[in-house]
Amino acid sequence: MKIRLIINAITHEVEVEERTLLADLLRDQLGLTGTHLGCDTSQCGCCTVHLDGEAVKSCTMLAVQAAGCSVLTIEGLAQAHADTRSGFESIDSSRERSSLASEEAGQALEVHPVQAAFAACHALQCGFCTPGMIMASADLLRRHPDPSDEQILEGLAGNLCRCTGYVNIVKAVKQAAAQMQTLAAARSGQ
Ligand code: FES
Ligand code: FES
Repeated sequence: MKIRLIINAITHEVEVEERTLLADLLRDQLGLTGTHLGCDTSQCGCCTVHLDGEAVKSCTMLAVQAAGCSVLTIEGLAQAHADTRSGFESIDSSRERSSLASEEAGQALEVHPVQAAFAACHALQCGFCTPGMIMASADLLRRHPDPSDEQILEGLAGNLCRCTGYVNIVKAVKQAAAQMQTLAAARSGQ
C-alpha cells in the first residue's frame, strides 16, 4: 500500500507492506541508517525517532501507523533545531573536537546541542546506542528543559548503552540543557 508521510521535513510517498516496520522503511527503503536496530523488541532504544514531536521506538511501530505523521530522525535533528530558531551548535565550539568535524573541508559540522554535548562529554564509545540516546535526550529536554539527574535517568530508562556506564551521558544531557537555555535566553533578548 502507498502511504504519505513527512520525514525530516520532506514529504515522501512510499509503497510499503502492511507488516513493514517504521525502522525498516527508514533504513532499507529511504537509506536513513542513522536509526539503528539493536533488539527489534522495544528494549534497547537505539531505533528511537520522533513522531509528531515525541520519541517513539521505530522497531515496534508499523510504517502504516506513521502515515500522515511527521517523523524526525537523527539525520534531520540539527536542521529541525535550527528551524525552531534556537540555533545550531558548532562542533568546534565544544571543548573537544570530534571526528564528526569535517576537517578535510575545513568546515565545522553544524549539530544539535545534544550532539555537541555528547561529543564534548565523551558520552559515547562504540556509538551504536548514540542516535537513539540523542533522540530520546532531545525529547527529554523538550519536556524537562532543566532536568535533574533523576529525570534524566528516568527519561532515558528505555535506552540501553553497553559501553559508557551512563555517567557521561547524564553529564552531556545536563550540558546540552544549559547550552539550550543559554541559546533560548540570547534569542529572547534579541
Ligand atoms: S531496536 Fe528498537 S528498541 Fe531496540
Ligand atoms: S556507546 Fe556503545 S552502546 Fe552506547
